Amino acid sequence: MQTNILVTGGAGYIGSHVTVRLHEEGFNPIILDDFSNSDKSVLDRLKKITGKSFTCYEGSILDEPLLNKIFSEHQIAGVIHFAAKKAVGESVEKPLLYYRINVAGLVTVLEAMHAHNCNSLVFSSSCTVYGEPDKLPVTEESPKKPASSPYGNTKQIGEEIIEDAVKSGMALKSIALRYFNPIGAHPSAEIGELPLGVPNNLVPFITQTAAGIREKLTVFGNDYDTPDGTCIRDYIHVMDLADAHVQAIAHLNSIAETSHFDVINVGTGRGNTVLEAIKAFENVTGLSLNYTIGSRRPGDVEKVYAEVEKSAKILNWKTKYSLEESMRDAWNWQKRLSGL
Ligand code: WQD
Repeated sequence: MQTNILVTGGAGYIGSHVTVRLHEEGFNPIILDDFSNSDKSVLDRLKKITGKSFTCYEGSILDEPLLNKIFSEHQIAGVIHFAAKKAVGESVEKPLLYYRINVAGLVTVLEAMHAHNCNSLVFSSSCTVYGEPDKLPVTEESPKKPASSPYGNTKQIGEEIIEDAVKSGMALKSIALRYFNPIGAHPSAEIGELPLGVPNNLVPFITQTAAGIREKLTVFGNDYDTPDGTCIRDYIHVMDLADAHVQAIAHLNSIAETSHFDVINVGTGRGNTVLEAIKAFENVTGLSLNYTIGSRRPGDVEKVYAEVEKSAKILNWKTKYSLEESMRDAWNWQKRLSGL
């Protein structure tokens, strides 16, 4: 009898990669997605990779009757909750949309879990909760800083909601995974980050520039206090990130206590500058990227990368992919999208 895991946002960038790995590890992922930031063709591509047509419910995490239907039709052992809005800039323009989806949506999922005695939750959080860390590498005990965007605030609030629910004595075991910078795509190039509009993030902008979709990349500032003046980030391959989720849900299912909350950094533990990321892309593709140095982007953190001891200890997990391999897979995905 397979263990059913509800993956909200399971047709999305990270959710689809987690769906593949859950299946490969013997779980039965059930997808809930409103396809607002994905496409139904992802389901066909998941079948191409795994040979399986996954059960998928189309709809919103705010749709309480739908959630009750899902929990009534399946014995759900745990939930991995990805479904959320995630564009920093958009969250500044549309804060209420972000609080409705990311905060009210999480509460709706938690209420449905409680109503159906499902008590394991992996929550998609972000290193954005640390803001500009005082010390590096950043540990889970590093202080959370006031959020620099409504998006970042919804992640902080999400963690607090879950912690308060656990403290209330609700039968809930939860791990909030604080992602660093997810990049890359499944090595098959069947799934990856679907481009919607002009990319905000570095790596999709790099690959679209290399594919000729964007004229050039602008590096947002080279006057930071870093070895080459450009910002430092912890770029983690989405497949490594997916494995951390499988380990997290398995860990939760193994915990005897009925109430548990923890936060875990999910990064490589390595920091790379923007110029190093560009160099890695050029090395692995043999291409020369057209980029210029521009002014700083408001709100950017100068440097952040993860301390990874806790994830190694609790999840028995560490990353396997290098920055170059992440860039290789990101480029293969872009070539697939662009028909190159
Ligand atoms: C990385 C670096 C930019 C684009 C954000 C969210 C975070 C998470 C990941 C959702 C920075 C530089 C970028 C460009 C550039 N999102 N850059 N030119 O800002 O670290 O994190 O996305 O979960 O919560 O905050 O990622 O890829 O936007 O930027 O120079 O065209 O690349 O300045 O230094 P970021 P990013």
